[in-house]
Amino acid sequence: MADSDSAVAGLLQTQLTGVLEAQAREMLPRGVFDYYAGGSETETTLREAPLAWHRWRLRPRMLSGVAAPNLATTLLGTPVASPIGVPPWALQRMAHPDGELATADACARTGTLMTVSTTATVPLGEVAAVAPQSPKWFQLYQVHGPAYTDDLVRRCAGAGYRALVLTVDLPVLGRRLRDLANDFQLPEGLVMANHPDQADVQADAELPGPAAGGSGVSVRRLDQALDSADKTPPWTYADVEHFAGLTDLPVVVKGVLRGDDAVRCLEAGASAVWVSTHGGRQVDRAVSSAVALVDVVSSVSDHAEVYVDGGIRSGTDALVALALGARAVFCGRPVIWGLVTGGADGVVDVLSRLRVELAHSMTLCGVASVERVSRDLVTT
Ligand code: LAC
Repeated sequence: MADSDSAVAGLLQTQLTGVLEAQAREMLPRGVFDYYAGGSETETTLREAPLAWHRWRLRPRMLSGVAAPNLATTLLGTPVASPIGVPPWALQRMAHPDGELATADACARTGTLMTVSTTATVPLGEVAAVAPQSPKWFQLYQVHGPAYTDDLVRRCAGAGYRALVLTVDLPVLGRRLRDLANDFQLPEGLVMANHPDQADVQADAELPGPAAGGSGVSVRRLDQALDSADKTPPWTYADVEHFAGLTDLPVVVKGVLRGDDAVRCLEAGASAVWVSTHGGRQVDRAVSSAVALVDVVSSVSDHAEVYVDGGIRSGTDALVALALGARAVFCGRPVIWGLVTGGADGVVDVLSRLRVELAHSMTLCGVASVERVSRDLVTT
């Protein structure tokens, strides 16, 4: 890492999210903290993510008379209070006893879009039932047999989720060296509530498990749960097409890092693409989201909404991402640290602070609304 990068990395630790991370490190068992904080292999993509946003410089406009910028926007037609959303992240009851229920509550209280993970520790119906009017998307992996996965998707539609987010960067779990060193396992008593019973998976990958009722399965090892030999074969564009046609839910493809892939996803029926490196947890040395976003936006043009996550640590990072063409940004680890340190209130605090920072940066830059954030606002 160059000296200037080290200096910036140090600076990030002094920001709110760095402070919360330090608190969370004190509060969590080592294995759990490392699971949330870590990335794959050399963690190069993880480390570079915030630095890549930081490389962009703003070109603020003066004398524009902006006092209170409007952050409200729509995502796939759904109104949200701001373009900062919560991405899917797994096993939230490890972070706080209320888990996904607390995150859903915090999102509802702040008008934030929440994406709920397949690997949630609370069944999808129970999360949906927290403030049902508050918009939620459901994230899907290719970890089950096709019949089970299709059933899960239909249940999402029935439970009121508004979009299906296909995570396409996980044909296998990335090599997370911290987890291997810690022999990370799901703590006793927690379940992957949307997974079928593991015995059923082994007996018949097609058999819907008990997750509809919410009993889930206490798979101890994440890699076993996600890399089951009986799971669906690696997804292709045909699967994007399949899910786009399965229900009325629009399909968002998450994990896209190339413009040409983004175009193919849209051709296969996706409604939007989500630029992501999976928090630096899958392909190590993958290009940073900030860099990939430029490529994807230029290929997709105005044909679809583009979202991004990875290394967004402040409202100013969010503003840079919006200027580069993202319709929304998703902020993962800061929200995790908020849940660990303060439950639902902690998540509300993080989301509110990010929103205040975004409004503040927009005011300083003379931008009246998120719709008016334009590409000329940033330069390298
Ligand atoms: C992870 C998977 C579960 O990143 O999304 O750990």
